[in-house]
Amino acid sequence: MEGEKVMELSPALIIKKGHGEAAYHFLKQNSWLDSKKQLNEIENGILAIPINENCPLAKEKINIFDNEKRIDVRIENVEMSSNPPSVEPHARLHESITQWLQSNLEIDDSLSQQSRVILMDDLLSKIPKKWEKLGDLILLPQTTFSSNKWTSIISEENQLSLWKCIAEALKIERIGIQKHINDDIERSSQAQLLLGNSSWVELLDFGVKFGFDACKVMYSSGNVTERHRIGNMDMNGETIIDCYAGIGYYTLPMLVRGDAALVHACELNQHSITALEWGAKANNVSNRLIIHQGDNALTMTKLEGIADRCHLGFLPSSQPTWKLAIACLKEKGGILHIHMNVEEEKIEQWIDSTIHSLQQYVIELKRNYKVEVLHLEKVKWFAPRVRHVVLDVEFIHYD
Ligand SMILES: C[S@@+](CC[C@H](N)C(=O)[O-])C[C@H]1O[C@@H](n2cnc3c(N)ncnc32)[C@H](O)[C@@H]1O
Repeated sequence: MEGEKVMELSPALIIKKGHGEAAYHFLKQNSWLDSKKQLNEIENGILAIPINENCPLAKEKINIFDNEKRIDVRIENVEMSSNPPSVEPHARLHESITQWLQSNLEIDDSLSQQSRVILMDDLLSKIPKKWEKLGDLILLPQTTFSSNKWTSIISEENQLSLWKCIAEALKIERIGIQKHINDDIERSSQAQLLLGNSSWVELLDFGVKFGFDACKVMYSSGNVTERHRIGNMDMNGETIIDCYAGIGYYTLPMLVRGDAALVHACELNQHSITALEWGAKANNVSNRLIIHQGDNALTMTKLEGIADRCHLGFLPSSQPTWKLAIACLKEKGGILHIHMNVEEEKIEQWIDSTIHSLQQYVIELKRNYKVEVLHLEKVKWFAPRVRHVVLDVEFIHYD
């Protein structure tokens, strides 16, 4: 029943209240504190601090000092209530992994108390602090549990219990670990599934459904603001070319939210295309999407003169498609969204040189376009001092 406390007889360290802080820190440092139970004052001025199964029951072995004086303690079973589980995922993960370590870490008996504390602190300091949540699957960073100490603890036998304990703490069903995103042009993902049977995930972002295999293709959660910005543009009646469509990060918002009349999606990677087709069906926009499989250096040459807008979403640079994209614009002109990684202090300089290059391409293509900057969007930090930016450029026809 809500609000009702479950009381349980559990072992506790009994001390005078004045020594509470010193005793609490001592138990915590030794990983002897039972964080699932609540500390309480059992009688006037006397505290019971819950201890776990690793804490020795012989009081001679518990050497707590307060102001350099050893304090008097005793161990007793007392009625204690359970702590409500933490609402904060990082705290829950920390608690769960601490408990997992308490059952799985074989500590050499000869190790001093101080060395045990250092070992435990070191292991706990390596717990992941961030992860990517994709529906009910989380992808842990590549370096998770890769330190020598962690790899010496995780074994064939105990790893499943660790993944399950993480899944329970984070309230998800499946866990994967990032392997680096390949440096190939397909940006293929090499995530590995640790818990669960399938790495297919489905998400709803800003009213748009996405589905993809998280172990085969990348999904950039960091580009969320840009996805929303593009999705908020009115593209009613427009024909658009998404030159690096991926799983439809921009193609789908342009169709679903922007109401584009038709998107030509250029994409190389078959896994991304499978996901894009799934997304088109799930969002009911398949009839307004044409997928061109293959290298955009070839596919875009067949799309000359048809587009109101081209989306060039590739990092570190989308420059190989700039000239092709201008050639794809309708005679009356249109808009390019140019993605690029640029050093923060060189952004203004980069805008000028980009406009200059685009004007050169316009001359080479014999188009009568005036080239104007509409907007520069700073999407995210890609690396220290390097920004992922998007430059919106308009090509205006003149006679
Ligand atoms: C990083 S994803 C970008 C997806 C999305 N536009 C974004 O910015 O989040 C790049 C996609 O471009 C595709 N790609 C890279 N080079 C390509 C090329 N020359 N022709 C067609 N697709 C290409 C890759 O397969 C990948 O799916």
